[in-house]
Order: sequence, then C-alpha cells, then structure tokens
Amino acid sequence: MKQGDKPVHGMWTSRWAFILAATGSAVGLGNIWKFPYFAGEYGGGAFVLVYLLCIALVGVPIMVAEVMLGRKGGMSPVHTMIKLAAESKVSRRWAGIGYMGALAGFLILSFYSVIAGWTLYYIWDMAQGGFQGISAAGSLAHFEGMQANAWLMLGCHTAFMILTMWVVARGVSRGLEKAVQVLMPLLFVLLIGLVVYASTTPGFAQGVNFMFHTDFSKLSGKAVMAALGQAFFTLSLGMGAIMVYGAYMPREVKDRRTGQTRRVSIVSTVGIIALLDTLVALGAGLVIFPVVFSNGLEPSQGPGLLFVTLPLAFGQMPAGVIVGTVFFVLVMCSALSSSISLGEPMVAWLVERGLGRPLAALVVGLTAWVIGIGTVLSFNYWKDVTFLVGTFFQNIDFLASSLMLPLGGMLIAIFAGWVMKETQARKELAMKSFGLYMIWRAVVRIVAPLAVAAVFLNALIGALGG
Ligand code: TRP
Repeated sequence: MKQGDKPVHGMWTSRWAFILAATGSAVGLGNIWKFPYFAGEYGGGAFVLVYLLCIALVGVPIMVAEVMLGRKGGMSPVHTMIKLAAESKVSRRWAGIGYMGALAGFLILSFYSVIAGWTLYYIWDMAQGGFQGISAAGSLAHFEGMQANAWLMLGCHTAFMILTMWVVARGVSRGLEKAVQVLMPLLFVLLIGLVVYASTTPGFAQGVNFMFHTDFSKLSGKAVMAALGQAFFTLSLGMGAIMVYGAYMPREVKDRRTGQTRRVSIVSTVGIIALLDTLVALGAGLVIFPVVFSNGLEPSQGPGLLFVTLPLAFGQMPAGVIVGTVFFVLVMCSALSSSISLGEPMVAWLVERGLGRPLAALVVGLTAWVIGIGTVLSFNYWKDVTFLVGTFFQNIDFLASSLMLPLGGMLIAIFAGWVMKETQARKELAMKSFGLYMIWRAVVRIVAPLAVAAVFLNALIGALGG
C-alpha cells in the first residue's frame, strides 16, 4: 500500500516524525511526575530495575504489536480492528478494543488536562518568583491553595484543553507533527540542561545512589505490580494511541541522502521510542532526587513530590526562578504532546465517520472538558464526596488507567499473538532476525497476557480489599 491510499488523516512525513510523535505521546506526566514519585515511594533502585525490565520485556513487545496492528489497519483503532477482524475471519466484537480504547483515552484526557493545567499555573507562579525563599509549609500551602481554588483550576484546565484541541484540529502533519517537532527537541535540551545543573548540587551522588543502588529487601509484590503498570502508562499502551499513530506511519520512506526507498522497521523504531522514554524518566529522576537530597528533603513524598517539594527546592537555590520556570515549561510541553495523543483515536474515528477534523476535535475536547470538571471539583467542593475507590477523580483514574489500559493491552497482545494470521503479522513486521521474531511472538502470546492479567487482578483485589 502506498501513502496515497490513506487520504483521510494524512501520514507522518518521515520515520523521524513518527518517532518524535510517539515519543511525545509516551513522555509526559507519567515520566516526570509519576515515575519519580513511584521510585521514591517504592524505595529507589530495585523499583527502577524492575520498571526497566518491564519496559524491555513486556512494554516493548506490546508496543510493537500495537504499531503493527495500526499500520496494518491504517485507520482509527475502531476501524482498524473491524478491518483486521474481518481479514482474520473473527467476530467484529474485536472492535471493542477500539471502542474501549477511545473511551479510556477520553477519561484519561479529562483528568490529564486538569493535572497538566496545574503546570500552567506553576509556570506563571514560578516566573513571578512566587516560591522564592518559601518554607516547606509555605510550599504545601501554595499547592493546597491552588487546589482549593476551583475557578483557578477550571481556568487552567480550560486553557490546557483548548491548547490540546487546537493542535489536534490542525491535523496530523500540520498540527501534531509540527507541534512535536518543536516540543520534543526543546524538551530534551531543557532536561539535559537541568541534569547538568543538578550534577553541580551537593546531593547529586546521593540522588544517583538512590536511583541505582538496588536493595531488593525493599522490593514488595506491590512495587513489582506498580512497576509493570507504570511501564504501560508511560509507553501510552493499551488504548490505541500508539495504534493510531502507527496507522499514520508509512511502510517505506525515501532516504533523503540516497533517494532510494527503504522499509520502515517497526521494531527498531519502537526500540528508539522506548529508549527515549526511559531516558526522560531517568533524567527526571536525576533532576528531582539530587534536588531533594541537596535540600534535606524526603524522596518518599508521594504525589506531591513534583508540585510541593521541587518548588520548595527551586525557591532555595540560586537562580531558582529561572530553573524552576524552565522546569515547569518542560513538564507542560511534555504533557501537551501526550494529551494530543489521548484524543487522537476518538478524533480519527469521528473523522472517518464524516466529521471535519476541527469539529471532531471540538466534540472530543468539549466532552473531555466537561468530564474534567468533575476532577476539578474532586480537589475542593467534592473533596469529601467519595465512592468506590475514592473521589470522582480517583474513580475515573482507576477505571481508565488501572482497569481499561491493562485490559486493552492484554487484548491487543492476544489479538496479535493468537487471532491474527501468523503470516500476516510476520509480513507486516518484516523482522530481519527470525530468532528475535520468535521471542516477540512468545512474549505477546504468553508472557504479556499473563503479566497484564496479574496487574489487572492485583488492581481488582486492591480495590476490593481496600
Ligand atoms: N504516556 C503518557 C505519560 O507518561 C500519558 C499518555 C499519553 C497515555 N497517551 C496515553 C497513557 C495513552 C496511557 C494511554 O504521561
């Protein structure tokens, strides 16, 4: 099939554009906010090691499967799955992967925008010098003050959602690709600068030691589960985001230098994305933990690590206004390139059903925005309104991240490994090494479904057991 066969959405103009976009999707709040706080909470080195193993052994093979299905189908996850199910002569119900994924993306987008909205406020606040010389209590009060202000949070949520949908509305090559071409390199430059800065702080050695010294006595079953779940979230797996990005991936590209066409290898491309994602997570840790130790703070702060502890550190360090502002710009950019991928499966589906892209983006953005209001209120007026696993926000997060993503990832692995014709998968992947192909196949057939089932059950038992 040539690029011209897919006129509905357009294609990435190069393999590099796909890598940037998928890396943009993968790198986000999951890397910069969640990964360090998990690493801190679960004791450092041993958790990091298990997380890295999960990325390599389960995350990468499932990502390969997702890109492969997407490129084979060439459409939104719903239509891709309908098409592939028909080709494999199995029930149309496999399209459920696409529907569930679109819904999960919707739900995640609704609260992702709210949390990302906090970074907008923090950029502004930080740039004003709002954290200069602040105390621990003061920083916490800052964070809580923001949460208590529903109008402020709603405003930030609204601004972030508009930003996201504006990019999505502009389309694949003019919107998404343009945005990530600016955002991703910027992000890497900023992060490298901050790691260099962190290496000059007195706590650097301690921070590095905390992240890489593996003490297995600290590793619990729960930590292993958290590491696997985090591997899924951080690579954007299980809801079709990577599948729809794969659908925009050309099979062959013209080499700029030689002018010859080359096949675009899925496996090596995914390898690069996973590597970049991992480097950003580790880089974020290498900024955050040295800063934590340099300021005599605790690594096990929990979710507040990013929003309470770091501003406190920025408030104390020389040039903290600049470093802090740059850091939150970095977080905001990475969140934006992730959030555009959360809405894309749904937008692509609506576009295939005949809606114009701007209108589809408006519909998706508006709906997610409305659901997001529930999350905004979960931090103030509805703070004490709890049911099932907690506040409205916690329920949405749990439903989408802990239940729907693992389930989606598992079904994707099963479809790619058991349902789809073996020859088709092998042809689409076109892997040079047969041994590597057999390893991939074994993982998507057996290892990945079992591992995800374990996460899934754990989440369920945790919810029931309280
Ligand atoms: N991976 C992103 C992060 O780490 C979040 C994200 C974007 C995501 N798209 C996704 C998570 C799809 C799950 C599924 O912040």
